Amino acid sequence: MKSNFRNLITAGLLGAAMLIPTGAWAADAAAGKTLYSKCQSCHKADGSGNAAIGKAMGVEMKPLKGASEDAIKGAVTKGVGKMKPVAGIAGGDLDNLVAYIKTL
Ligand code: HEC
Repeated sequence: MKSNFRNLITAGLLGAAMLIPTGAWAADAAAGKTLYSKCQSCHKADGSGNAAIGKAMGVEMKPLKGASEDAIKGAVTKGVGKMKPVAGIAGGDLDNLVAYIKTL
């Protein structure tokens, strides 16, 4: 009886631990993935950077993986170096995009 009760608690805790973070995270990142289609031609699907584009623009493409949240939001809204701002991404969309890039 005692161990049944403990199993029930353990199962409940595990279930909660799995549901809460992934639920909130997955929704944002999934929305961000759609937005990332605007970045993919230059930064590639995996964020490693399109070397040919970098060469054409005279810069070295850094992997997006190491970019901070501020760097990502700044690049999209204001542009960075040779990169021009990307239109049509603001507010919560920026957070979703950041969430997706963090999964790369
Ligand atoms: C037309 C090509 C192009 C598109 C589209 C583009 N970028 Fe960029 N991005 C660049 C180039 C080129 C650089 C490097 C700029 C430099 O160093 O002068 C860059 C740099 C960045 C950086 C800075 C990386 C670092 O660590 O310094 C971030 C972050 C970034 N881009 C995010 C994005 C996101 C997010 C999108 C989509 C919303 C996007 N970019 C769309 C070309 C592009």
